[in-house]
Amino acid sequence: MKQTKGINTWDFDYLRQLVHQHSAVVLDGDKTYLAELHLQPIAEAAGFATITDLIAYLRHHPVSDLHIQAIEALVTNETSFFRDTYPFEALKKLVLPELIKKRRIERSLNIWCAACSHGQEPYSIAILIREYFPLLANWSVQIIASDFSSKVLDRAKKGCYNQLEIKRGLPKNLRDRYFKLLDNEWQIQDEIRKNIDFRQLNLIHSWSDLPKIDIILLRNVLIYFDIATKKALLTKVKQQLNSDGYLFLGSGETTINLHQSFERVQFDKSIFYRLRPVASDNAAIAPRK
Ligand SMILES: C[S@@+](CC[C@H](N)C(=O)[O-])C[C@H]1O[C@@H](n2cnc3c(N)ncnc32)[C@H](O)[C@@H]1O
Repeated sequence: MKQTKGINTWDFDYLRQLVHQHSAVVLDGDKTYLAELHLQPIAEAAGFATITDLIAYLRHHPVSDLHIQAIEALVTNETSFFRDTYPFEALKKLVLPELIKKRRIERSLNIWCAACSHGQEPYSIAILIREYFPLLANWSVQIIASDFSSKVLDRAKKGCYNQLEIKRGLPKNLRDRYFKLLDNEWQIQDEIRKNIDFRQLNLIHSWSDLPKIDIILLRNVLIYFDIATKKALLTKVKQQLNSDGYLFLGSGETTINLHQSFERVQFDKSIFYRLRPVASDNAAIAPRK
């Protein structure tokens, strides 16, 4: 059997299956070294001599905290403030101004970061709103930030970032305005943090607790799913999004060839998606007012 340092193919297949069952994430076959790196501290903390012993234990016991720890450790949490810049430009210059016009009577907006990792994405949105849309202070703006991992959510809720994390994407003036330095970590102001409704939500489970949403950010997570899961999630997005709402995906993700219901919109260098008007499903897409 092929042995890759600590994890052999048989054990890695078990881990892939475990992660897929609980998150739908498909682990890359050539990432065994990453699995070793991330599982080593879990094995040590739980008193196993080797990763192989940890996996043998997982394999032969019902799902427990240890399984969840292993799954969460194997899923990528990469994120940063204002990641990729352009989506936030589109939010600032087009999407929020348009929605503000459309919702001026009800004065309410729902935004959902559907795989928020350590919180940089929802905090970026809350900061952007505070900076450029002071009028929304008097609206009901709900920013829901969810992830399946309680570990990343705990960090997101704390809103504390080390020097490296705070430098990634966040301009200094915004850092100084919205964070305070506490024991070498930068902590987000309570004023911003309390605007965000952090929830544990696994995308492959029910979304029935969510309200209808105006802006969904489902960024850099579809990329880890197989095609059937991507299609199923886009169908759920279609149902969750208000008919005039907006969907943002990661820069390497698209709805094209996966779901007919979305039209791709390019604004400067930003790409986002809207629902096609129902009547013109098969017709040429006319620009909307
Ligand atoms: C690479 S991060 C992306 C974070 C952020 N959206 C961004 O673009 O910077 C992917 C996140 O998706 C989460 N995730 C993976 N599978 C999930 C699932 N089935 N349900 C909810 N979240 C999931 C992971 O825990 C991780 O925090």
